[in-house]
Amino acid sequence: MTADRLTARELTLAYENRTVVEDLDLRIPDGRVTVIVGPNACGKSTLLRALGRLLKPRRGAVLLDGTELARVPTRRIAQVIGLLPQTPVAPEGITVADLVSRGRQPHQQWWRQWSEADEEAVAAAMERTGTADLAERPVDELSGGQRQRVWIAMALAQDTDLLLLDEPTTYLDIAHQVEVLDLVRQLNRERGRTVVAVLHDLNQAARYADHLIAMRAGRIVAQGPPADVVTAGLVREVFGLASVVVPDPVTGGPLVVPGPPWAAGADGAGIAAVPAQESDADTAERA
Ligand SMILES: Nc1ncnc2c1ncn2[C@@H]1O[C@H](COP(=O)(O)OP(=O)(O)OP(=O)(O)O)[C@@H](O)[C@H]1O
Ligand SMILES: [Mg+2]
Repeated sequence: MTADRLTARELTLAYENRTVVEDLDLRIPDGRVTVIVGPNACGKSTLLRALGRLLKPRRGAVLLDGTELARVPTRRIAQVIGLLPQTPVAPEGITVADLVSRGRQPHQQWWRQWSEADEEAVAAAMERTGTADLAERPVDELSGGQRQRVWIAMALAQDTDLLLLDEPTTYLDIAHQVEVLDLVRQLNRERGRTVVAVLHDLNQAARYADHLIAMRAGRIVAQGPPADVVTAGLVREVFGLASVVVPDPVTGGPLVVPGPPWAAGADGAGIAAVPAQESDADTAERA
């Protein structure tokens, strides 16, 4: 059995005097798509940033191929791990083509600034993300969704074995969300890339994850295949939300349907208001 490339050991992450993650052990399965879900402020981005060495652990360590990240040269890390932060900031006035090209920096040498391979990687990344038409546009002038796809293109151009994506579908319309998630899965299945993505949509998480990690308050509450992890009980435990989990009509995997919406006159809105024939038919746990 080979060891997973990216792991964390007794990881504690903190900002000044606020501890966000404490004593966390983690393995990112190689060649799989791992999706992290959890409520706002539970520490997902903090964890992802530590995995990409943007944040130094307070205690414990993140290990890449068995070596503490802190001891791996920055350039080497950038050749192996690509990270798309939740709110990346583009240099003012930069064009799309220039920003995507920056993804190639870790692969350049002082004696060879720009190669054919760089050119091809940039063109392919823009093609795959549908941003080629935007090449000469300043990034500042793009729509939120266009900009998000440009950032994804930059991460793809970096062409790393490990790809960490913090909410890659933010700002995207439903078709572009599916397109980006399909692209991620394709990179994984066809090129063996290991992916870790933070997603808010539980149903997308269940669809695209091989390995799902549910976090709450800096801890891992459950992890494993989505079919095992996503239950009404977990949704209640992690998000405090009443829901029914039914089979996704397309994939057969778990599909989370929240309890009924607020309505005038209904008291204690919740799952109890689900019509009887539906609540009899499924195996979901009740709030
Ligand atoms: N730079 C920072 N300085 C101080 N505290 C921070 C910083 N970044 C995040 N935090 C705090 O750490 C906690 C975890 O934040 P984090 O960004 O990891 O949450 P998250 O799970 O990614 O949430 P969201 O779903 O809203 O993106 C929050 O309480 C947040 O306020
Ligand atoms: Mg976040």
